Amino acid sequence: MKTYSRQQLALRNGQDRPEVWVAFEGRIYDLTSSRMWAKGRHYEHWAGQDLTRELKKEAPHLEEVFRKFEQIGTLL
Ligand code: HEM
Repeated sequence: MKTYSRQQLALRNGQDRPEVWVAFEGRIYDLTSSRMWAKGRHYEHWAGQDLTRELKKEAPHLEEVFRKFEQIGTLL
């Protein structure tokens, strides 16, 4: 599994690059195929960062939403 820094993750925000990556509990998921994350935006949340806290505090769903996405790396 490849390891990425926060700076590398930040580039994959769906704006600077087409890739939409999000980190959760140290795992980086590729959400590029999700229509719900188009342009790196999901409700008022933005990709390219660690959203562990936001998911736990603000999402109306649990981490099961990541199940259908591939973990493409680990956050340094
Ligand atoms: C205001 C906060 C949020 C709202 C209202 C929201 C709402 C939703 C809804 C309605 C769905 C589709 C239904 C479902 O799968 O249960 C969804 C899917 C999803 N959410 Fe959220 N969400 C929020 C925050 C977050 C956060 C912080 C993350 C962190 C990464 C996240 C990640 C996801 C993912 C990965 C999916 C699956 C997308 C897909 O299947 O294409 N959500 N969200």
